[in-house]
Amino acid sequence: MYRSFSFLSYLLCLSFFSLIHNTGAWENNTYEYIVIGSGPGGGPVAANLARAGHSVLLLEAGDDQTQNVNVSLWYNFNLAGNDPATRWDFFVKHSDDPERESRYLRMTWRNKDGSFYVGTDPPAGAEQLGIYYPRAGTLGGCAMHNGCLTMNPNDADWDDIAKMTGDSSWTAENMRKYLINLERVHYLPNGTEGHGYTGWLDMTMLDSGLETNPDSKLFLQQAALASGASVDDLPELTMRDMNGDQPNRDQLTGIFGGVSHIAPNQNRSSPGYYVRNTVNENKYPLTLQLDTLATKIIFSNDTTKPKAIGVEFLQGKSMYSADPRFNASEKGTPGRAFASKEVIISGGAFNSPQLLKLSGIGPAEELKKFNIPVVVDLPGVGHRLADNYEAGILSLASRAIAGASEIFPVFLKTSVAKIRDIYMWCGSFSFEGFWPGFPESYGPSQYECAIVHMNPRSQAGAVTLRSADPRDVPDVNLNFFKTGESQDLQAILEAVKWVRGFVSKVGGGLGPFKEKHPCPYPKGNCTDEEQKKYIKEQAYSHHASSTCAIGADGDEMAVLDSKFRVRGVKGLRVVDASSFPAVPGGFPVLPTMMLSEKATEEILNELEEAGGVVRH
Ligand SMILES: Cc1cc2nc3c(=O)[nH]c(=O)nc-3n(C[C@H](O)[C@H](O)[C@H](O)COP(=O)(O)OP(=O)(O)OC[C@H]3O[C@@H](n4cnc5c(N)ncnc54)[C@H](O)[C@@H]3O)c2cc1C
Ligand SMILES: *[C@@H]1O[C@H](CO)[C@@H](O)[C@H](O)[C@H]1NC(C)=O
Ligand SMILES: *[C@@H]1O[C@H](CO)[C@@H](O)[C@H](O)[C@H]1NC(C)=O
Ligand SMILES: *[C@@H]1O[C@H](CO)[C@@H](O)[C@H](O)[C@H]1NC(C)=O
Ligand SMILES: *[C@@H]1O[C@H](CO)[C@@H](O)[C@H](O)[C@H]1NC(C)=O
Ligand SMILES: *[C@@H]1O[C@H](CO)[C@@H](O)[C@H](O)[C@H]1NC(C)=O
Ligand SMILES: *[C@@H]1O[C@H](CO)[C@@H](O)[C@H](O)[C@H]1NC(C)=O
Ligand SMILES: *[C@@H]1O[C@H](CO)[C@@H](O)[C@H](O)[C@H]1NC(C)=O
Repeated sequence: MYRSFSFLSYLLCLSFFSLIHNTGAWENNTYEYIVIGSGPGGGPVAANLARAGHSVLLLEAGDDQTQNVNVSLWYNFNLAGNDPATRWDFFVKHSDDPERESRYLRMTWRNKDGSFYVGTDPPAGAEQLGIYYPRAGTLGGCAMHNGCLTMNPNDADWDDIAKMTGDSSWTAENMRKYLINLERVHYLPNGTEGHGYTGWLDMTMLDSGLETNPDSKLFLQQAALASGASVDDLPELTMRDMNGDQPNRDQLTGIFGGVSHIAPNQNRSSPGYYVRNTVNENKYPLTLQLDTLATKIIFSNDTTKPKAIGVEFLQGKSMYSADPRFNASEKGTPGRAFASKEVIISGGAFNSPQLLKLSGIGPAEELKKFNIPVVVDLPGVGHRLADNYEAGILSLASRAIAGASEIFPVFLKTSVAKIRDIYMWCGSFSFEGFWPGFPESYGPSQYECAIVHMNPRSQAGAVTLRSADPRDVPDVNLNFFKTGESQDLQAILEAVKWVRGFVSKVGGGLGPFKEKHPCPYPKGNCTDEEQKKYIKEQAYSHHASSTCAIGADGDEMAVLDSKFRVRGVKGLRVVDASSFPAVPGGFPVLPTMMLSEKATEEILNELEEAGGVVRH
C-alpha cells in the first residue's frame, strides 16, 4: 500500500511540480522529506532542501521564540538558558559511582513541593535528579540559547573521519567548502580567501577589550607573555582568525579572536532564524510544524530492507517531559506524515538515539526489555556518547574589574597531546557548569578562564531508554574519564596552572587574586592530586555527541555510514551532533551546521544519481 502511495506521489511530483511548489504539501500529508528537529543539525538541511525546490516537512517539538529577547539578543544567553519558554531539563550521571556523584557540588534534587534544591545537603524527602544538563526544545535547538562561540575543529578531527570511513569528502580541506557555504563573515574584508560572505550565518568577532578596556588589556598582556608572544603582537592576536585555514593549523596556540554566530547589531544569528526566514519568504515548499513531538519512524516492509516512509507524532504544547511546563494529563493529538523520499532525524545527541530505539532500531536486548519490535539490531545506537570535559579556574581580584562582556580565547597544547588540546576563554565572568538558575555571580571582581578539553579520550557514555513512552526522557550516563583519565586530567591541570601563572602577574591593583577553585584561597598550595580530584569530580559539559556515530563498514558499533545513512534500513539518516564519530574540536555548533550543509549536498547528489536512473 505504501509503495503505491509513494509511486503516486512520484507521479504527482512529475506532473504537478508547480502545484507542489505552491502548496508545500500533498494529499494525505506526504512530503518528499521529513526532518525531525530544527537545531543546527536539522534546521539548515530542511531549509536548504526546500530552497532547492523539494517539499519538506520540518517537525519541531518546541515553538517559535525567535522574537523572545532572551533569545534574540545574544548576550542574554544565560537568561535564555533558564527560560521555561525554551529549555528542556535533562539530569544526567557522570559515572556509575553514586559516591562520586554525591560529591558533585551542584547536584540537583526535587523537593517535596516540586521546587529544585541544588547542593550536597538536600532537605529530607528530596529526590535526587542528577546533574543538570541544559538543552533547548525550541525552533533552532540549542543554538537559540548557547554562548554563540564558533570553532572549526582541528583539521585532524575531520581528516580522521575521512581515514576511518575511506570517504575523502570528509577531509578538512573539503569540509571548508561547507563552512564557506553557510557563513556570512563580517570580521574580515568581504572577499578574503577561505571564508564565505553570502551565507545565512552571520559571523562576527567579540571585542577582546584590548583597545576599549584597560583592565582587559592587563590580562591580555600577561596571557600574551605566558604564551610566548609579545605585548606588541596583541592587536594582531586578538583579531587572529580561529576558523582560518592557516597552514599547520592544529599546532597554532595562544590568543585568538572570539568568532561567534552573532550579527553586527548584536542579534543572535542561528539556524532558527534561517528556518524562520525561509518560511517567511513564502516561496519555498517548507512546512514548519511546531509543537510536534515525533514519537516513531514508520517503516514499510515491502522492500528488501525496511524503508522509512513516515513519522508518527504527537501535536500539542510541551509534549516532552524534559519541558518544565510538561503536564502528563495533556495527551496531545496523534498524527502521521509520510515522506516519499527520506526521513532525516536531527533531535540532538539525546533525542536522536531515543527516537531510533523507540522505532525499533538499536541494541536488540534493550528494545526487547521494553517490548519494542526490533526492526534492526544496531548495538551502537545510544553508545559512544562523549563530551568535551570542562573546568574553570575562577578567582576574585582585589578590586572590581571594569567591563563585563569582553573575553578572549586561547589554545594550548599540553605535554600529553600531539596537537593543541585545550581551548579556553577568559574574562570577568563565572561559569561553573549548569544547574537550575545557573550561573552564580561572585560580583564585579570575578575572573575566570573557562577550560574546554578537546578530544576527550573516553567515549564510554550511553543514552538508554527508561521506558517505551516517547514522552519520557532517556537515562544519560556520560561515564567521564572511563579511559585515558590520567592524561586528560593532566591536560586540564596544566591548563589550570598556565592560567594561574598569568593571572598572578596581572598588575594595576587587580592582584592579589583569591582563587575560588580548583585550589581555594587561602590554601594556595594544593597538590596536583588534590586539584585533579577536584577537576575529575566537578568537571561539567554541554557538548554531547556521537550517540548515532558514523563509522567504518564492518564496525559493529557504527550506526551511520559516511553519508549519514542509518545502517540496515533505507530512506533514513541522522544529521546532528550525534552523527560525529568523536567530539569535534572544542565547540560543536559550527561543525554540526557544517554537517547539515554536507548532508544537503549528499542528499541532492543521490537524488540526481537516482533521477538519472529513472530517465534512462
Ligand atoms: C547552554 C548551552 C550553551 C552552549 N554553548 C555553545 C557555544 O557557545 N558554542 C558551541 O559551539 N556550542 C555550544 N553549545 C552546544 C551546541 O548548542 C549543540 O552542540 C548543538 O546545538 C547541537 O545541535 P543538534 O542539532 O545536534 O541538537 P539540538 O541543538 O539539541 O537540536 C535538536 C532539536 O530537535 C528538537 N527535537 C528533539 N527531539 C525531537 C522529537 N522527537 N520531535 C521533534 N523535535 C525534536 C529539539 O526541540 C531541538 O530543537 C551549547 C549548548 C548549550 C545547551
Ligand atoms: C488518502 O486518505 C483517504 C482517507 O483516509 C483515503 O481514502 C485515500 O485513499 C488516501 N489517498 C491515498 C493516495 O492514499
Ligand atoms: C533584533 O532583535 C530584536 C529583539 O528581538 C528585534 O526586535 C529586531 O527586529 C532584530 N533585528 C533584526 C535585524 O532582526
Ligand atoms: C527570560 O528568561 C527569564 C528566565 O531566565 C524569565 O524569567 C523571563 O520571563 C524571560 N523573559 C522574557 C521576555 O520572556
Ligand atoms: C559581500 O559582498 C557580496 C557581493 O557584493 C554581497 O552580496 C554580500 O552581502 C557581502 N557580504 C557582507 C557580509 O557584507
Ligand atoms: C512493518 O513491520 C513491523 C514489524 O512487524 C510492523 O510493526 C509495522 O507496522 C509494519 N509496517 C507497515 C507499514 O506495515
Ligand atoms: C494538567 O492538565 C489537566 C488537563 O488539561 C488540567 O486539568 C490540570 O489543571 C493541568 N495541571 C496543571 C498543573 O496545569
Ligand atoms: C599550605 O597552606 C596552608 C595555608 O596557608 C598552610 O597552613 C600549610 O602549612 C601549607 N602546606 C604546605 C605543605 O606548604
